[in-house]
Amino acid sequence: MSARRIDPKVRAVYGRLWKYVLPHRLVGFVAVVAMAISAVVEATMVWMVEPLMDEALVSHNLESTRWLPVAFIGVFIIRGISGFATEASLGWIGRSVISDLRREVFRKYLTLPAGFLDSRSKGPMLSKMTYNVEMVAESVTNVVTILIRELLTVVAAIGVMLIQSTRLFVFVAVLFPVIAVLIRILGNAFRRYSSRIQDTVGDVTQVSEEVLSGNRVVKVFGGYDYETERLEEADERNRRQNMKLVRSRSFGVAITQVVFGFGVAGVIYFAGIESLNGDLSPGSFMSFFGAMMLMLQPLRRITNVNATLQRGIAAGDSLFQVLDQPDEINEGTYRSENIAGRVEFEKVCFSYGDETRPVLNDVSFVVEKGESIAIVGHSGSGKSTLVNLLPRFYDVTAGRILLDGVNVEEYELSNLRFAISLVSQDVILFNDTIANNIAYGQLRSCSRAALLQAAEAAHIMDFVNEMPDGLETIVGDRGVLLSGGQRQRIAIGRALLKDAPVLILDEATSSLDTKSERRIQDALGVLMRDRTTLVIAHRLSTVENADHIIVLDSGSIVERGTHKDLVEQDGHYAQLYRMQFSEDASPT
Ligand SMILES: Nc1ncnc2c1ncn2[C@@H]1O[C@H](COP(=O)(O)OP(=O)(O)O)[C@@H](O)[C@H]1O
Ligand SMILES: [Mg+2]
Repeated sequence: MSARRIDPKVRAVYGRLWKYVLPHRLVGFVAVVAMAISAVVEATMVWMVEPLMDEALVSHNLESTRWLPVAFIGVFIIRGISGFATEASLGWIGRSVISDLRREVFRKYLTLPAGFLDSRSKGPMLSKMTYNVEMVAESVTNVVTILIRELLTVVAAIGVMLIQSTRLFVFVAVLFPVIAVLIRILGNAFRRYSSRIQDTVGDVTQVSEEVLSGNRVVKVFGGYDYETERLEEADERNRRQNMKLVRSRSFGVAITQVVFGFGVAGVIYFAGIESLNGDLSPGSFMSFFGAMMLMLQPLRRITNVNATLQRGIAAGDSLFQVLDQPDEINEGTYRSENIAGRVEFEKVCFSYGDETRPVLNDVSFVVEKGESIAIVGHSGSGKSTLVNLLPRFYDVTAGRILLDGVNVEEYELSNLRFAISLVSQDVILFNDTIANNIAYGQLRSCSRAALLQAAEAAHIMDFVNEMPDGLETIVGDRGVLLSGGQRQRIAIGRALLKDAPVLILDEATSSLDTKSERRIQDALGVLMRDRTTLVIAHRLSTVENADHIIVLDSGSIVERGTHKDLVEQDGHYAQLYRMQFSEDASPT
């Protein structure tokens, strides 16, 4: 089990894990001392078998063995205390490492770029917070226990064996290389499996998460069999991988025991000869034998240290991969406390990830402070993408976006985003009260009066007044306890409260029926007043009053102007408008 054979990756991951253990070194010291005491105490117990046998039981020399019962009591008390101290201190370190890692991963999740998060399955990312951190901590504490307590126990046991019979020990020592070779062979067998186990747990989480949040679709479209199959597949993969691990681990244990059995037979045979020669007393033999048995369990765990280590490495490696992901790029230093809100897109091109297909192509426009621009186009034409570039959820591939004449990439990120309000198509609410969902994040510190005013203006009070808990009503996971329109009104209230100079409305009223939409139209009107607004609306009525309109088609601006201009032009916009108009007029 030499450290020299451990490959560099193992060392790198463990090296990093140590940084999480290091702050707890004082507790670690207690653990080490307690483990050392445990090892010595165990050995003392088997050593005391010799006087017990030879003096008390064989020679009946009761005078000189009166201390024995007392000594046994003492030994057991010390054993209890050191055992407790070991478990408690290691547990403490383990739980602390779990907390530290979990919090660090969570902080990372908060700052990862939107692009990274969009492209990942959430299941594996969730299981990192739960499964992986537990695995890592378990592995660390287990490896530490094995390397310290078990090794010390083995050393102490060897000490007892040497005291009792050097020649018998030499015989036993022949067993060790055999066991060591087995450890190595089996250790290599584990390495392949542990990484795949991590992934399959993530798959199980993923399917379960989807079933829970998409339970309506599952119910209506009868997805029971499909989902059950998916889960069983993922679970089966997980079970198989784990069984491979269990098999090879228990195989390792069995092999070690069998080897040990042969060793025991040999020792008994050899001890018989020694005893005949008068070189070995019964007490010495029993004590020797006890020491050998004492080694069995620690040796077994040492045999498995590689598996334990590998599990930790796999879990830790996938954690560190996430922790090593670059954060959102935030290299800008420009800060302005007074952003006016002039927005300019300058020959902006954009494509997602490594895709070469451009989603936006040479988009240029200017919106003066306080003006509004409507972005119109078929679904998939790039409207949401365009507005997402302004708060830098994604960065442009070419061209520039300027806010008050300064490139958005030069702004300090939080300063930039502080100037932007967003109401999007799919409103995300947090499982909290309506009030806290309106006054979310930096808005927490707002006054009650401001909150009520915003709630009033966004027509939130219309439905809140009917609820028993009013604004203190809990909205449920993602706001499931509210209707789509109610959720959108809360999002509009949130934007009103933020009172930022730039406003993005990405189909902000798509979940409202025409009647409710008309009612909150004035709320939107209030919201848009004196604010630079980028509005994407699925109903063109919202668009008519915009100062500018651009029409996107496959990521390029194909028309621009005011509503009146564009209707007269009788092009894309006029066609969209006619379609929309007839849709609105039809009795739905
Ligand atoms: N996160 C993403 N990763 C890759 N492609 C995306 C992503 N989001 C949108 N797209 C693609 O970009 C194009 C424009 O999408 P989007 O801006 O959402 O259109 P719109 O809002 O006009 O309906 C679509 O073809 C869509 O498939
Ligand atoms: Mg969209």
